[in-house]
Amino acid sequence: MSLASLLALSLPLLSAVAATKPGSGHLCKDFRIPVNVTVPYYDLNLSIETNWDLVDYIFNSTRRDSREVFHPVGASQTATTAYTIGATFCTPSPRKNSSETVLILTHGSMVDRSYWNPVFPGSERYNFVQHVLDAGYSVFFYDRLGSGNSDRPSPITHVQFAPQVAILESLTRLLQRPNSPYTLNTTIRKVVHVGHSFGAFIAAALLAAPTQTQTQIQQTPPPSQTPPGNALVLTGFSGRFEWISLFVSGGQARVAALQNPKKWAPLPHGYLVPADAYSAAYGGFKSPFFDRRVAEWLYENQSPYAIGESLTAGTWPLDFGLLNVPVQVVQGRHDLTACGGNCDGVLDSTAALFTGSPKVVVNGDFQGGHNLNFHYDGKKSFYAITKFVKETV
Ligand SMILES: *[C@@H]1O[C@H](CO)[C@@H](O)[C@H](O)[C@H]1NC(C)=O
Ligand SMILES: *[C@@H]1O[C@H](CO)[C@@H](O)[C@H](O)[C@H]1NC(C)=O
Ligand SMILES: *[C@@H]1O[C@H](CO)[C@@H](O)[C@H](O)[C@H]1NC(C)=O
Ligand SMILES: *[C@@H]1O[C@H](CO)[C@@H](O)[C@H](O)[C@H]1NC(C)=O
Ligand SMILES: *[C@@H]1O[C@H](CO)[C@@H](O)[C@H](O)[C@H]1NC(C)=O
Repeated sequence: MSLASLLALSLPLLSAVAATKPGSGHLCKDFRIPVNVTVPYYDLNLSIETNWDLVDYIFNSTRRDSREVFHPVGASQTATTAYTIGATFCTPSPRKNSSETVLILTHGSMVDRSYWNPVFPGSERYNFVQHVLDAGYSVFFYDRLGSGNSDRPSPITHVQFAPQVAILESLTRLLQRPNSPYTLNTTIRKVVHVGHSFGAFIAAALLAAPTQTQTQIQQTPPPSQTPPGNALVLTGFSGRFEWISLFVSGGQARVAALQNPKKWAPLPHGYLVPADAYSAAYGGFKSPFFDRRVAEWLYENQSPYAIGESLTAGTWPLDFGLLNVPVQVVQGRHDLTACGGNCDGVLDSTAALFTGSPKVVVNGDFQGGHNLNFHYDGKKSFYAITKFVKETV
């Protein structure tokens, strides 16, 4: 696909991003950031036109012998692609010493960067961006490729796992650069990556294999040998995959363009949404630990996700043992995707993954499901994260 047609497919205004408003103790600025990434793109032997195709796809990818019989991922070709990424940087005002530490937030599927910065009456307790600023840190949150205000290229040929990792690396390098245009004149000395769900895998992939993508950055390099992160916070994550089929079959994906043509008609048919608010909540929420109106807000403000990114995640040789930074795992106890609905007894095996990390902290007793931020216990989990950052970085 040519660059021109990629750009033609980008639909920057489909989803409004409500940034935390400047004024009350912090400064924020929205950006659209150009990046070039050079990565392998995989051929996917898959054609999704109708919801019938999708139902067959769900069947294929969740049948008990799926691993043996369903092989949609083919060969790869390396290519350089230009993308524009929607993002927001915020920093406390007046500045504090701690403002030189930035938390870089990578969201999961079905949402965009507003996952971290929801704005609705009563949303303060669910707003992680505001919490981080109140704790004195800078924060950078962005729409992953294929969502929100970022480019939305082909969900099959382009929105794949490797470009998501390389984009995160490029963005991190841009923030670490002296005189970065994206930090409101804040010098960034420390980077903490925070990833939710699919975003947790992306952030872990970046820090577990920094050399894999480092050579591909076309930007002026930052001071030599700066690592792309000093600590990692993973949430909606157990490092285990055996329950993802619950999420895939329970989520009952539909073609976004057919589901809501008013909003999404221009999107290629590999952009998907859950069938309704209840199928979305099955994977994301656990009763009675949330306010149903909040789950409805998240559904109304969802961002369609690309089928190609999860399909290609398995192509990345992700070895958690290669992580050499402190790691925190923050989990809702009833996470369906990560723990099959019950994290008790699961997270010991998660902690054991990080054999190379100097420090591993697991906070797994919050009452909530996969979208922990939007449960009543979300704020408690935010305090756990900033406590870890304060004690660690
Ligand atoms: C991306 O590559 C193109 C072509 O080489 C170049 O013109 C452009 O400046 C690059 N953009 C960035 C952000 O590096
Ligand atoms: C693509 O999938 C179809 C249907 O399963 C199969 O017949 C065909 O051989 C596959 N092509 C490749 C290149 O794997
Ligand atoms: C599902 O698998 C069958 C072969 O078992 C194949 O013919 C079909 O094309 C696949 N459908 C999708 C959407 O992947
Ligand atoms: C902030 O940094 C300055 C310069 O390094 C130092 O003198 C000052 O004590 C620090 N303040 C706090 C609150 O840590
Ligand atoms: C950043 O520094 C430049 C040059 O000193 C100045 O013009 C600009 O107002 C500063 N921006 C912020 C947000 O402080």
